[in-house]
Amino acid sequence: HGTGLLVDTVVDEVAGACGRYGGTVRRVPADVPATAPSPVGPAGGPRRHVPATAPSPPGDLLLALRDAAALPAWARRLTAGADGPLGDEGFLLAGSGDRTLLLADAPAGLLYGLFHLVRLGRAAFDARPVECHRPALARRMLDHWDNVDVHPVTGQVERGYAGGSIFWRDGAARGDLARVREYGRLLAACGVNAVAVNNVNVHASGARLLTERLGDVAAIADTLRPYGVRVHLSVTFAAPVVLGGLPNADPLDAAVRAWWAAAARRVYDRIPDFGGYVVKADSEGQPGPFTYGRDHADGANLLAATLAPFGGVVHWRAFVYDHRQDWRDRSTDRARAAFDHFTPLDGRFRDNVILQVKHGPMDFQVREPVSPVLAAMPATRLAVEVQVTQEYTGQQRHVCYLGPWWSEILGFAPWGPQGPTVADVAAGTASTRDPRSGAGGGRSATAGGGLVGVSNVGDDPFWTGHPLAQANLYAFGRLAWDPGLDPVAVLDEWIRLTFPPATTGDPGLVRRTLHAVLDGSWWTYERYTAPLGVGFMVRPGHHYGPDVDGYEYTPWGTYHFADRDGVGVDRTRATGTGFTGQYPRPWSERYEDLHGCPDELLLFFHHVPYGHVLRSGRTVIQHIYDTHFAGVEQVEAMRGQWRRLAGLVDPALYARVSERLDEQRRCAAEWRDQVNSYFLRKSGVPDEHGRRIW
Ligand code: GCU
Repeated sequence: HGTGLLVDTVVDEVAGACGRYGGTVRRVPADVPATAPSPVGPAGGPRRHVPATAPSPPGDLLLALRDAAALPAWARRLTAGADGPLGDEGFLLAGSGDRTLLLADAPAGLLYGLFHLVRLGRAAFDARPVECHRPALARRMLDHWDNVDVHPVTGQVERGYAGGSIFWRDGAARGDLARVREYGRLLAACGVNAVAVNNVNVHASGARLLTERLGDVAAIADTLRPYGVRVHLSVTFAAPVVLGGLPNADPLDAAVRAWWAAAARRVYDRIPDFGGYVVKADSEGQPGPFTYGRDHADGANLLAATLAPFGGVVHWRAFVYDHRQDWRDRSTDRARAAFDHFTPLDGRFRDNVILQVKHGPMDFQVREPVSPVLAAMPATRLAVEVQVTQEYTGQQRHVCYLGPWWSEILGFAPWGPQGPTVADVAAGTASTRDPRSGAGGGRSATAGGGLVGVSNVGDDPFWTGHPLAQANLYAFGRLAWDPGLDPVAVLDEWIRLTFPPATTGDPGLVRRTLHAVLDGSWWTYERYTAPLGVGFMVRPGHHYGPDVDGYEYTPWGTYHFADRDGVGVDRTRATGTGFTGQYPRPWSERYEDLHGCPDELLLFFHHVPYGHVLRSGRTVIQHIYDTHFAGVEQVEAMRGQWRRLAGLVDPALYARVSERLDEQRRCAAEWRDQVNSYFLRKSGVPDEHGRRIW
């Protein structure tokens, strides 16, 4: 579907780029008569020859689909021996120094290859041996938590910090498809190939996107298709009741099945390449199969069966826990919930169900261990969900470049350093083992579910509210394409693509300054917020700014248990909730061991006295004081660095970032003072350096 469109997109993009430099584009259409049939071409008809008379001066760049054109001799020489399949999205790049060749098996590969050339800039024309690029993860998706109506509590975009939705406004489609098209281009340039266009919390008008408002979704799909982006919908499990008027939504009820089957047929009539559904069921008040005494596999499989004939998938979210917990109940541990709910269902999901697992067991905190679910469901397709929108990491008012955090998550090896990583699990290439026994197994995992991010984009002129938060969008796509990339190198790409070098003075200043501001900004944010992996301590509801006890006596299951003697959550098997036992070895042992547990996660796994000495050699209380003072100093340093760019970057952008850095400085100081004062008052232990604590 839409492959011709993709080729048109590539041609337009190339023409646009060449036009800027006075170059020209010559398109050799597929209907040029073949002068000779291909002896070796892939199935799909004879190859077309690029006419021998086609001029091919030095500096030429040839973009070709392998089965659409037989290559000229110079290109055949360059790629001799490189016959392996490139897949639907891969591409091959080779260059003699005079001429450059970009080859793909499918149009999407040409598109991604083209954006790769743009990243390379001038170096695209250097001599290079054959390079093959294929995405590590087939599914690279952004979920928009966009409401169709303005929700009275969560607004137009739930956890959105970049203005309104680019798709919806006040209960209707915005109709600004030009902006949506620009978005498609932005996504393709980052490597993203799927979006869900509405909130996982499906409210009344969001629900109707599946039925009477399907035309709006089809218009978005038509607009994103030329950039290789497939559209998905969040649906409510209660749809047969709320939209179909049926008495129940029991997944085993024949009328319910028939309703979903008819819904899927209607969707695919309008959107032949529709991606599928995203479902938040039995989670934070959303309806689900529990109402009918059924489990999540029953629910997910019902929907998956109706999408399977059309090639669609169900992204079923694993974010299921008791959000009405009694805080006095010390036996219930929210961190355990996803594992306890889902691992007994391993092997029961259809192969077009993707279980979408938040990267950590809690909820997108600045620091959490990797979710043990990712190591415990070898017979299920798993997707890793991260939050590009910065709900808990400064809400796009603070600079917080999340590339290093995601890179750490994707590189985490749940079975130990020799074993597969989280990225392998998401790619479906992890060989499986039973995490409970730690024993090696042999079976290959099913296809992976990929990487999913909660989008950080809105109708803000800078797309992301904070202009520097664009780096997170870019890094998300790039790490989904290749989780092994160095996040600082990815940032460097983004800087070079976004900020032209200064024409006067020091040409490297902009780039160096942006690195100085962004490279370590995740650690800086961690320093001045909740310490040592304990999480939360944010204002309930909107989640911005400090409130140390804000969640302490609530039903949400997010506690730090600070008292006069110590702080942290005992999740050990020996004396706590037993959560450490959900990990395979070696992590089940390391996290259990007070002295083996990494410092940055200590309070996630252990309740310790304030005088407990960290692996760093500092006590917990002194670590809290030191990091909070240091965090604010680092934000002040960022502000100073940024000021050097006055007059060197776009003035509107400069002003926006400056204003946000002022707010970050204010908020960081508030965090420092509240956290430090709280712990001084609880513990009575003074700061070794006698700094001011309130
Ligand atoms: C968080 C977030 C909610 C969101 C939920 C989810 O709890 O605060 O806004 O709905 O995650 O992931 O479903």
